[in-house]
Amino acid sequence: MIVTIDGPAGAGKSTVALGLAERLGFRFLDTGAMYRAVARTALARRWPMEDAAELARRSAALDIQVADDRVLVDGEDVTDGLREPLVASNIHFVADNPAIREQLVRLQRARSELGDLVTEGRDQGTVAFPDAECKIFLTASAEERAKRRHDELRLRDVDIDYETVLEDQRERDRRDAERPVGPLVQAEDAIVVVTDGLTRDEVIEHLERLVRNAAERIRRGPAQPSASGGERRGPLRGPGGESIGGGLEDEIP
Ligand code: DC
Repeated sequence: MIVTIDGPAGAGKSTVALGLAERLGFRFLDTGAMYRAVARTALARRWPMEDAAELARRSAALDIQVADDRVLVDGEDVTDGLREPLVASNIHFVADNPAIREQLVRLQRARSELGDLVTEGRDQGTVAFPDAECKIFLTASAEERAKRRHDELRLRDVDIDYETVLEDQRERDRRDAERPVGPLVQAEDAIVVVTDGLTRDEVIEHLERLVRNAAERIRRGPAQPSASGGERRGPLRGPGGESIGGGLEDEIP
């Protein structure tokens, strides 16, 4: 079974997807780490970042190995350097490159052949795995995402004001949405989960329920029409009864 989790930067996809994969006993794939790994390698090897064809040619020759939470490039574990600001500010050269995207999507699909997978990114439910059995679009308001990021940076003693973090995030959202290939769009059949006000564990629990419901539906086979009109649908509810989903959730009666 393939579970895709797409959504904007700062929605907490990585920690939630990893936690979900652990609960389900599925493999986990952080596709952002793959884009970061190529960008980091390109910078370290002083590749011409502005030359898209050359960047793609060199990237194609890389041996990229992804394990649950590590990325190896040509045998070197590059995981620890993936969050450096220089990588973030140059990643668009890699993420906007159609040939590199194709290369990485091929690797993502190869990983799914090993068995059950939770994969997170921007285009997992739309481009990489359009037939995934369970698609989730994980998001939060721009303000909430910026607040979380700001709190995180302050914990690391980074002196930056909230407005700057929010502005930076809006720029990342814009780039993700306007990318000519593999832009962040919600798959039509994705379930939207809005995480404002929810803890990581609450989100993981909720997603686990969604995946188990999807698995149960697959086990039962195509839905049979019933006297009550078939499946019940309704907005997702948070612990206080508030709506946490902009989309609709199929429920197992
Ligand atoms: O999720 P992240 O912040 O680690 O992603 C790093 C970058 O890679 C970000 O600029 C978006 C891009 N990305 C992408 O284009 N497609 C994906 N499937 C995952 C990430």
